Amino acid sequence: MPTLVVDNHPFQVRADQNALEACLSLKLDLPYFCWHPALGSVGACRQCAVKQFKDEKDTKGKLVMACMTAVSDGMRLSIADDDARRFRASVIEGLMENHPHDCPVCDEGGECHLQDMTVMTGHDYRRYRFPKRTFRNQDLGPFLNHEMNRCIQCYRCVRFYREYAGGTDFNVFKLRDIAYFGRQQDGVLENEFAGNLVEVCPTGVFTDKTLKRHYTRKWDLTMAPSVCVHCSLGCNTTPGARYGKLRRMVNRYNGAVNGYFLCDRGRYGYEFVNSGRRITRPLLRDGGSERIVSRDEALDRASHLITESRSVIGIGSPRASLEANFALRAVVGAEHFHLGMSDADAALAGLMLELQRAGPAHVPSLRETEQYDAVFIVGEDVSNTAPRLALSLRQSARQQPMQRLRALKIPLWQDHAVREAVQAEHGPFFIASVNATRLDDLATSAYRAAPDDIARLAFAVAHHVDASAVAVDGLSGDLDDLARSCAAALATAERPLIVSGAGCRSASVIRAAAALARALHAKGRAVGLCFALPECNTMGTLLLGGKPLGEALDAAARPELVIVLENDLHRRAGAVRVEALLSSAAHVIVLDSIETATSARADVVLPAGTFAESDGTLVNNEGRAQRFFQVLLPDSEIQESWRWLAQLRAATHRSGDAWESLDDVLHAMGGAVPSLAPAIEAAPLSHYRMAGARVPREPQRYSGRTSMLANIDVSEPKPPEDVDAPLSFTMEGTTRQPPSALIPFFWSPGWNSIQAVNQYQTEIAAALEGGDPGVRLIHADGSTGGPARPEIPAAFAARKGEWLVVPLHHVFGSDELSHEAPAVAQLAPAPYVALNAADANALGAHEGDVIDITLDGVTQRLPLKIAPALPAGVAGVPVGLEGMPAVTLPAWSRLVTHT
Ligand code: SF4
Ligand code: SF4
Ligand code: FES
Repeated sequence: MPTLVVDNHPFQVRADQNALEACLSLKLDLPYFCWHPALGSVGACRQCAVKQFKDEKDTKGKLVMACMTAVSDGMRLSIADDDARRFRASVIEGLMENHPHDCPVCDEGGECHLQDMTVMTGHDYRRYRFPKRTFRNQDLGPFLNHEMNRCIQCYRCVRFYREYAGGTDFNVFKLRDIAYFGRQQDGVLENEFAGNLVEVCPTGVFTDKTLKRHYTRKWDLTMAPSVCVHCSLGCNTTPGARYGKLRRMVNRYNGAVNGYFLCDRGRYGYEFVNSGRRITRPLLRDGGSERIVSRDEALDRASHLITESRSVIGIGSPRASLEANFALRAVVGAEHFHLGMSDADAALAGLMLELQRAGPAHVPSLRETEQYDAVFIVGEDVSNTAPRLALSLRQSARQQPMQRLRALKIPLWQDHAVREAVQAEHGPFFIASVNATRLDDLATSAYRAAPDDIARLAFAVAHHVDASAVAVDGLSGDLDDLARSCAAALATAERPLIVSGAGCRSASVIRAAAALARALHAKGRAVGLCFALPECNTMGTLLLGGKPLGEALDAAARPELVIVLENDLHRRAGAVRVEALLSSAAHVIVLDSIETATSARADVVLPAGTFAESDGTLVNNEGRAQRFFQVLLPDSEIQESWRWLAQLRAATHRSGDAWESLDDVLHAMGGAVPSLAPAIEAAPLSHYRMAGARVPREPQRYSGRTSMLANIDVSEPKPPEDVDAPLSFTMEGTTRQPPSALIPFFWSPGWNSIQAVNQYQTEIAAALEGGDPGVRLIHADGSTGGPARPEIPAAFAARKGEWLVVPLHHVFGSDELSHEAPAVAQLAPAPYVALNAADANALGAHEGDVIDITLDGVTQRLPLKIAPALPAGVAGVPVGLEGMPAVTLPAWSRLVTHT
């Protein structure tokens, strides 16, 4: 390791860094703006100036930009040098000439990198006395507020939006010495990662519009480590609450998962927690009447129903925690516990789990996916089903062209030079999908086909990689050429990655992706296989195990009591089957956070905590168990599902220890289901203390502590004690950095913005100190013996007068919970049926015409949308949207133009 001497102190540093990264890794305070750990260096802001000396005898030195200077052995730098200090202060002074100095009314205030850097440089006196430059701001849609006067022209936003995230509708517009960062005209920012601008922009140009509606100063938020519940990737998040309301969501760095960024579904979907449709009080229904009751009365009634019913079944949920599912299983017995997903979803997810276990391909973490140098996406529209994965894949597309930069001796952190050298070149990036995707701009080839044809292509690629893999008969010459070129690109890559998932609901597609991964492994490639699953805890629910939901829905002998955990069964199966179960059961108990069609049918409704009011564990698509912690103390009867169920278990089971805390449930689960035992290690248990102290959920700067409840009682109430977590609900506690899984917020003296994360990492952009949070529960070990020789599906054949209807997904709208957030709902489309233009012509229909489509025996009337990329003979319907019933897809349907 090279020795870097900073202000006469020698340090060992990593060789492939620039001096800014090295100094920040050493936790030295050096200001910066335009450099970003994920975006690299461009040397635009001149804020990171340091003095570089040739050797010990050099007393004069020269000013260099640390972010543009590669470290070398024996390099001598000074941060404290007077020239460097004055230079940095003068840069801030220049930037501040036009800055509005509106910190007291700025949403960024108190968490602003520009504030921190201004203080750090010591600039404190304004000499400029002339008018400031002012701009007109834009309406950028429901997520982001725009206040251009605060801009310091660091260019981070445009680099993130266009170069990192692939957006095209945002740019910098220049006139003489004026630079404007925005859209060509007002309008919703199109990129699904736009919300990251809130954290990427070092000042208050882009701020969270949803927070603005219920604004709270950042230091007044109660925060906790959490995990996103809006898709299967398990991005780490930090929710912030005040006065019993969830106020915002920001990224929580996890070096193995989401790194620095979230998708906008994850960032803005949080407002479902504040929804008017929340269930906040227990409810009993009897005949036509319903009654809000106390927690105790609801528990009495529910436990009476459980003990008096001759047959009881439980239906779990892939959107509920492991602990909640396990607790339900304990109440009803493992033999009566059902997986709360459709049988088709359960079969596909089970297949993906089996294939992950069988190996031999590595199942990469989300962050690892960025390092693969050739990608084949087999059938999955990741931008809409697992959005953050799409952002990672966008980075992997650059890996192969960047490899030749080694020969040119261009370090990869030299972002401008890298982009100049690489230009728009991409590595091998193949997409096979039923419809156009938002990654198509990267595609070496984008093949559109029905699911079976996608599977055939992937099987054919596998055969061309490894001749011992099953051959595919009857491919057209063009398709075989495509298979060969894809095979050649993947087989010659150092690290090919195969991505698939349950998005088009085809087992053949999933099997084909795995077969291709096996073929690449057989040829010695370090192949990765990554699957997107439907929901945040699909994997955890599967690992817990349970009977298929269909057995409950279709059983001849109906149970007397059905207990449904955080699940709207109408999203899992058709209304007829669901209603048959719910109406034939004598009683229904529902635990949920949101009113649903299922909760409306319950005799007993128990208000369940969302992720914000609960602690628990979720298992993401790679099998990583991650703990989330409660951030919000509800002022109602809401409590964690697992706690309701633990209380019901205690009331109805005569034997066994009572479960008083999350730890008890975790230990019981680990004992009953050994494969889940490592989940206990996902975070320290409740007894964990740091020098006898808890980890505070509130920053030391928290204000109003003694007065915020004075309208109720002038005596400050005793803070609630958390029996489930080693976190306190107050600002009292350790001032040391907690273990990574317990970090409620990133803060360090002088670092009040999200950039404080630098102070928590082992090195810049590397793992958090002590290792990133989460425990892998699945290891590819061939324990299942590997998949059977796959069956190649027959080629898709379009039918006359009928269409194969496939599911389409939407980042905003398809997810059940985030759709409850007003900002997300605003961007969700209305239900539609999609056809390509030629098929629409053949049907005599035009965009917007009303079409009758019959699925699962139910006819719906939907407007037509032209989707030019859909293959002939294939129609698409969006799944999960409000107003779209659960249907079994893919399925054939006649389409009739409604007149
Ligand atoms: S808008 Fe923010 S991120 Fe963009 S250039 Fe201005 S200060 Fe930098
Ligand atoms: S990618 Fe998925 S887990 Fe990550 S923030 Fe978005 S919705 Fe949440
Ligand atoms: S951070 Fe180094 S020049 Fe901007």
